[in-house]
Amino acid sequence: MKFPRCMSLALVCCVFLSWLTPRRAIRAAEAPVTWSRQIAHIVYQNCATCHHPGGSGPFSLLTFRDAYRRGPQMVQATQSRYMPPWLPAPGYGDFAGARRLSDEQVALIRKWVESGMPEGDASNAPPPPHYDPTWQLGKPDLILTVERPYILATSGSDVFRNFVLPYPLAQTHYIRAMQILPTVPQVVHHANVLIDRTASFRRRHPTDWEDGVEGMELELDAGNTFDPDSHFLFWKPDTPVLEEPEGMPWRLDGGNDLILNMHLKPSGKPETISAQIGLYFTPERASKLPMLLQLEDDRDLDIPPGNRHFVVQDELKLPVDVHVFGIYPHAHYLGKELEGWAILPNGKKEWLIRIPNWDIDRQSVYRYRDPVFLPRGTVLHMHYVYDNSEDNIHNPNSPPVRVRAGNRSVDEMAHLWIQVLPVNAPKRGPDPRLLLEQAWMEHRVDKNPRDFISLYNLAAALAGLGRYTEAAADYRKVLVSHPDDARTLNSLGAALENAGDLQQAEESFTRAIAAGHDTCDAQFNLAGLELKRSKFREAEEQFRGMLRQCPGDAETRGGLGLALDGEGDSTSAKTEFERALELDPGNFTALYHLGEMAIESGPPQRAIDLLEKAAAQRPDDVDSRERLALAFAQSGRSSDALKQLREAVQLKSGDANLHALLSQVLAGTGQLQQAIDEQNQALRLQPNDADGWNNLGVLEARAGKTVAARQSFQHALQLAPDHAQARANLARLPSR
Ligand code: HEC
Repeated sequence: MKFPRCMSLALVCCVFLSWLTPRRAIRAAEAPVTWSRQIAHIVYQNCATCHHPGGSGPFSLLTFRDAYRRGPQMVQATQSRYMPPWLPAPGYGDFAGARRLSDEQVALIRKWVESGMPEGDASNAPPPPHYDPTWQLGKPDLILTVERPYILATSGSDVFRNFVLPYPLAQTHYIRAMQILPTVPQVVHHANVLIDRTASFRRRHPTDWEDGVEGMELELDAGNTFDPDSHFLFWKPDTPVLEEPEGMPWRLDGGNDLILNMHLKPSGKPETISAQIGLYFTPERASKLPMLLQLEDDRDLDIPPGNRHFVVQDELKLPVDVHVFGIYPHAHYLGKELEGWAILPNGKKEWLIRIPNWDIDRQSVYRYRDPVFLPRGTVLHMHYVYDNSEDNIHNPNSPPVRVRAGNRSVDEMAHLWIQVLPVNAPKRGPDPRLLLEQAWMEHRVDKNPRDFISLYNLAAALAGLGRYTEAAADYRKVLVSHPDDARTLNSLGAALENAGDLQQAEESFTRAIAAGHDTCDAQFNLAGLELKRSKFREAEEQFRGMLRQCPGDAETRGGLGLALDGEGDSTSAKTEFERALELDPGNFTALYHLGEMAIESGPPQRAIDLLEKAAAQRPDDVDSRERLALAFAQSGRSSDALKQLREAVQLKSGDANLHALLSQVLAGTGQLQQAIDEQNQALRLQPNDADGWNNLGVLEARAGKTVAARQSFQHALQLAPDHAQARANLARLPSR
């Protein structure tokens, strides 16, 4: 589950500035300011990105003649800091791409206009910049196109249109950059791209999704895996391509949808709206996993008419060290002063952003030039001031009326989204994003105990952290108000199963199946539980039932294979695993078990192929590495086997069997001393293993260490007096 996210806003806000009467008195003593020498540079660097033909600015400023016609307006707009558009106050957060003229630049523009706007020597002017309305980074790796254009009416209020763009590939790709090319950029105020991991939006609009769906706010179902929103995919006309920082691409899997949420402003004539999204792939998987956090307090938003200083705030304590990459403040028309800051554990205040004069029409995502480090224990603060008086030029109501939180643009919002990347997390510790999720959801539940989505998410975070009993308790709280929610019942079952309470887990899965229509997850879990309890027949029946009822997926086939294997029917099991692989070539269960079967019945190369794929799917899975090592050892590739075992030992250093196996492979390659060391390590972990002592004795005897070998065999015999091999080995040792 995931929160409803307000995307953005409606209604055009028009601000008319009066023209300034040009004063043309030239003061002869000063060196003339000319277009060619100073002004063109300033305009090309700070204005032309929007003020060029086809850009989002209302006129072009690419030539001297363009600028000459707009001179007085330029003075007015730059002195008032209305242009270039940029809301954050300088000195409160150091943002990439900050658009702000220096005081000197503002003064130069004024001087130029006051002195009659001379062109100067045109041959000295810099060449005007060139704007390419196509793909800025070259041809994208994948282009998604809005298939059915939308006709935007000539006039009327703003439109929020959501276009669903299914990701057409089966293979997962990581996206390092994205560009949006609307057919008519002039009418697109801004756009957001959301990733719908479960195609839930399309399912909720089965008949009309292809035409696009109206609406400012979307609610997407994130599914059952913890995969939090992580990137701001926010776009405005004339912004550069969205390029992600090194190591931080975002992911698209088969079956995902992209949802393009466009805020459109009628232009005075009908417009045909379509768009392309260009995606640039990277072969690198994401090595850094950021997360979006939200501070908010919509519940406190109830602003009396006439109130010019209504404060809303929120705070959140960070449980881990983070780097802050970006920030997205959001309010509607009454927002006046929007601030975000952090109080570090040492009491120091670190500003994240300060917008002294909020303007909904200029909302944007702000990215820090360098990520801001915040140690754990830091408290994030949001502090917003609203002005619901007549003096607020953006106030949509005259006279002012009471305004509360809501999704219409005339309602209000108080949101501060922050993109953080956990850093300094212990290598083998829990996913730090789960700790962030836990802190965030606990805070939301504290604020509003009836917020059952947050309560569910909190329980899911606790389960992810392995705190199953607490998770189960929180799922039960959700069930108090939603007793028949199949997903909660299913999650409760999983938490109980992990906590070891198989009886109650079974009950919970059964209730989930009885409660819902879309119950494949619960059926799958119930069948899995039966597998665990060696009730193979029952599991087989569940899986077969699912294959009839739910679309046959690879996991179900794999599960059926396991059940059949458990019943001893390895031929049928093999068939099911093979079918699972046909459905999903990366299915871990099938790869692993077919690999295991191939170890027993060859050919060894097939076992290696399968198990290498399994290990690639789950690099942290010790069992598949161990089996892969066995397959390598079988085909005489000892050094590959050693490599796998060493990695497995790294992952699970307390596993005596792994050390013993490593010892055997080392012995096979003649590295006797290392083999002895590993066997000793295994015995330190499992001191009562008579076979282990016997094996150690054999290695020592081979190394010529007769005394040590004798002691080892005797030790084995002390533990197991009937150990025939140890006795024979002892007898075979050269006498003293
Ligand atoms: C990010 C895009 C962008 C940049 C950069 C930008 N402008 Fe604008 N400009 C606009 C838009 C859009 C408007 C229309 C008014 C609005 O919606 O804010 C506008 C309006 C104006 C106006 C008319 C203001 C009025 O009185 O209504 C002037 C003059 C102007 N810009 C000058 C400049 C100058 C000079 C610069 C550079 C120093 C600049 N702009 C940079 C987008 C931009």
